[in-house]
Amino acid sequence: MVRPVPFASLTGPLGSPVDLYQGDALSGLPRAVAPGSVDCVVTSPPYNRKVAYGAYDDDRPRAEYVRWVGRASDAVAKVLSPEGSLFLNIGGAPSDPWLPWDAAREVGTRFRLQNVIHWVKSIAIDRELAGKQVGLSGDLAVGHYKPLKSRRYLHSGHEYIFHFTRTGEVELDRLAVGVPYQDASNVERWQSSGSNRRCRGNTWFLPYRTIRFRAKDRPHPATFPVELPERCYRLHGLGRIRRAADPFVGIGASALAAARLGVPFVGFDLDAEYLSTAVAALRKEGAVVPTTTGGTDRRRARNPTLK
Ligand SMILES: C[S@@+](CC[C@H](N)C(=O)[O-])C[C@H]1O[C@@H](n2cnc3c(N)ncnc32)[C@H](O)[C@@H]1O
Repeated sequence: MVRPVPFASLTGPLGSPVDLYQGDALSGLPRAVAPGSVDCVVTSPPYNRKVAYGAYDDDRPRAEYVRWVGRASDAVAKVLSPEGSLFLNIGGAPSDPWLPWDAAREVGTRFRLQNVIHWVKSIAIDRELAGKQVGLSGDLAVGHYKPLKSRRYLHSGHEYIFHFTRTGEVELDRLAVGVPYQDASNVERWQSSGSNRRCRGNTWFLPYRTIRFRAKDRPHPATFPVELPERCYRLHGLGRIRRAADPFVGIGASALAAARLGVPFVGFDLDAEYLSTAVAALRKEGAVVPTTTGGTDRRRARNPTLK
């Protein structure tokens, strides 16, 4: 089996390798890394919502799309370790709310669905319902708001993160992403457990960072914030990740999160421009391109922006 040549290979600020490949991840990922050598995959495939990607047509017949997501999970199954986690982020259009679930059900024929996490992008909290101890001075509405012109549908402020494992029994590091107990009545409980933190639960408020210039600051139509993969890696357990992967890496949020945490990473995307943006973001973060690795010249020939 011929190993693909990386589009770019970098060393992250904590010394961990980051390998980015241009090409079809469904065939490429199992050729790029050894079976069972990936412990955590955090990924977001296209959602089949006619998004204008550079190199991918996001408008397939629905049934074909669902089957394709299943085939993408086959590629993950080939490289994931027995105790590995696949965090699959998918959002639905208000007019087709079943699509993420249909895709998840397809993946569920290969993996066990262990958790369903709700990625909340925006939320409104009434001061009165938050309770006095929270100290809100007024009602709160925070996060990304995408207005929707409709008399039928509500603005969609959330997406799913389906957490799949092979057995449904993979232990997680829940307190690594835990939150402090708020309620004084729980003091006794957390003192006896030796920790003042509790499980965060499955609703994660992760807003997008506010940007000024879309084309420069986020040149991709459908990203997730870096905090999302970071939280998934921590939840799986940083000490148990030998390598993380993302078959649909886009402009590199999952790569950046891995590099920040010192987790070795491999990612794929069809689009060279997205990958170049990912490389630039990684370099801004302190990642460097090693000059001594074999193949650097070939990679530079494919991607002249590499130094
Ligand atoms: C939802 S986006 C992922 C964005 C990414 N999470 C980020 O934050 O930048 C899906 C990506 O999948 C890529 N893609 C589509 N089909 C692919 C394939 N067969 N192999 C690799 N990448 C693919 C698209 O180019 C697009 O960048």
